[in-house]
Amino acid sequence: MTIEHVTVIGAGVMGGGIAAQIANAGIPVLLLDVVPEGAGDRNTVAEQAVARMAKADPAPFMSKRAVKRVTAGNIEDHLDQAAASDWIVEAVVERLDVKQALYKKIDAVRKKGSIVSSNTSTLPRAKLVEGMSQSFAADFLITHFFNPPRYMRLLEVVSGPENAAETVAGFEDFADRRLGKGVVEAHDTPGFIANRIGTFWIQCAIVEAIDRGLSIEEADACLGRPLGIPKTGVFALMDLVGIDLMPYVDQSLAGALSADDAYMKIRREVPLIGKMIADGYTGRKGKGGFYRLNTEGGGRVKEAVDLSSGAYAPAAKPALESLREARRGGAKAMVSHADKGGQYAWAVMSRTLAYAASLVPEIANDVDAVDQAMRLGYNWKKGPFELIDAIGPADMATRLAEDGAAVPALLKTAAEA
Ligand code: NAI
Repeated sequence: MTIEHVTVIGAGVMGGGIAAQIANAGIPVLLLDVVPEGAGDRNTVAEQAVARMAKADPAPFMSKRAVKRVTAGNIEDHLDQAAASDWIVEAVVERLDVKQALYKKIDAVRKKGSIVSSNTSTLPRAKLVEGMSQSFAADFLITHFFNPPRYMRLLEVVSGPENAAETVAGFEDFADRRLGKGVVEAHDTPGFIANRIGTFWIQCAIVEAIDRGLSIEEADACLGRPLGIPKTGVFALMDLVGIDLMPYVDQSLAGALSADDAYMKIRREVPLIGKMIADGYTGRKGKGGFYRLNTEGGGRVKEAVDLSSGAYAPAAKPALESLREARRGGAKAMVSHADKGGQYAWAVMSRTLAYAASLVPEIANDVDAVDQAMRLGYNWKKGPFELIDAIGPADMATRLAEDGAAVPALLKTAAEA
């Protein structure tokens, strides 16, 4: 497949970043957004997006030359120019009606055989192509980038029954070689792979920390390094991505999953999080998050939220025996220790890994795709199935049964092997 010109529609957080990464690959990009009411400069939204990205840190663009490869325009005056594109990426607001209306317009101007893809994080591919022409559906994919697109390697690609195998393979080859992405094929299921498992893991980590009375410093230490997960663990990760995204991701996933999905049983509204968001404590982009740097009185004190009272206090280095043991023994030692850290790590990871095991082949063709998605999308050193192997499938199955939890068939098979 030859992709020598691309149109990206939607110049927001994702569309902008995707356009920049395509330009980084040496490919000219037309970046379109809406015309704001009464705007003198009709291209202002896309132009401002490019200008903002040219100064951003970490930099979406690799060079000044890459910046110049992006032409800013607007959807009303320039959509016909998408006829020159081999690939048209849609990254507009997450609304089915808006996306579908746009696809009708795209289909009227695009050249035959051009790929059209959506960056949707929650809408099923089957819904997106409903009512569209057969030829559109045959060229349509979901290409789910992670934020920021230049730095997060994962690209989940969702194809459908209308796509020819060569179309999918050709695009994936391009995304791999030219865009430098780690392509993982995902099935057309809610949250695809990484966010389906990642959201479960995050929810589970938060409610277990509250119920078991762990401090956020302890929770992050137990779920981070010992397991080969970035040291941000869960709470510092939330600060990084934005705490305000949480209720949104939770609700969209819960709205799409069946009532008997394990996620529906572990999810719970956390009043403290609602209050933090309402008060502007949305993480690093806000007044602070679960952690904050208090500079009052000229000092720089790292503080952490107390999960029961919501008050900030100076962050304390966790002193848990399990953490000391895990320095040598890794994941297995961490989840096997009897102290509260070990019990917490087991509670969160056993459920998350069992959930992952219960989802193959529903969400992905094989366990390797799931491991790859978590390594590239959440920066885990080991994917869920590699972690199961590190802990020991037989031990895991036994302990899950002792806990009264369901043991997924895949784990039983691994335990018996
Ligand atoms: P955003 O709100 O930053 O940007 C959306 C842009 O689309 C805005 O600039 C808006 O003016 C423009 N737009 C709206 N309707 C349009 C139309 N009809 N024609 C042209 N432009 C239009 O949103 P964001 O976060 O970039 O999300 C875009 C898509 O990417 C959504 O589908 C979202 O679910 C998905 N996504 C978002 C991720 C994130 O971390 N923010 C991660 C992965 C996927």
